[in-house]
Amino acid sequence: VLTVVLAESELELVPERLKHHPAMQKAAGRRGERAGRTILDASVHHDALRGFPDGMRRGRPDMVHFFLLLGLDSVLNKAGGLRLLVHTRNDELIRVSPETRIMRNQPRFIGLMEQLYRFGVVPQDPPLFRLERGWTLERVIREEAKGPVVALSEEARRVNPHRYFSEKARAGDLTLVLGGFPKGDFRTDVRKLATETVSLHPESLSIWTVMTEVLAAWEDGSGLFPE
Ligand SMILES: C[S@@+](CC[C@H](N)C(=O)[O-])C[C@H]1O[C@@H](n2cnc3c(N)ncnc32)[C@H](O)[C@@H]1O
Repeated sequence: VLTVVLAESELELVPERLKHHPAMQKAAGRRGERAGRTILDASVHHDALRGFPDGMRRGRPDMVHFFLLLGLDSVLNKAGGLRLLVHTRNDELIRVSPETRIMRNQPRFIGLMEQLYRFGVVPQDPPLFRLERGWTLERVIREEAKGPVVALSEEARRVNPHRYFSEKARAGDLTLVLGGFPKGDFRTDVRKLATETVSLHPESLSIWTVMTEVLAAWEDGSGLFPE
């Protein structure tokens, strides 16, 4: 099984200090919702995020959405070989059932995440997403990892993703840690927690490109396609 942890992902409700910002009030009002119950979204709340601590990397529910779309729809997931975990900047852990059929529409996905923050589980029956609090990245890796832990970073030893991940798939379970943030580095010392940290390319890649490369190589190495 390949476990993929989207680490320190920038998914959160509008923080207390931003709730009363006019841009937040306006955006929430348009949706008939209270600002504090809405998901922070840089594509809508850019004015409020300017000058806010870490403002240039916060509010990226789209990264979580793409991560889940690519993972849940993959051939590997259909074959029962994939486990997806979302860890957030506020140390929440979101468990996602592999049977989930995720909506393509991003505003609807954001609405679902708002329900998840409110109720802890969505939908009620059967529960497909579960949000648990108090999970540092260290704890996620310590308690949830299966097999060796490989962290992905732009700044690490370069590997050929196809050769590397197809060989890993032949070797057994693996846990992969990738950052769910758009800029900068992990805030946790991931290199210390991981068995190995590798880079796929000298430039920074988007989460969807990373997922595509890794999944294709792992599927190949797992023998999911004819020779
Ligand atoms: C949008 S990037 C964050 C940008 C950040 N500067 C970086 O690459 O470390 C999100 C995540 O994708 C993975 N990633 C992006 N580019 C990569 C690369 N060239 N090699 C390996 N992993 C990469 C890393 O796990 C990164 O945290």
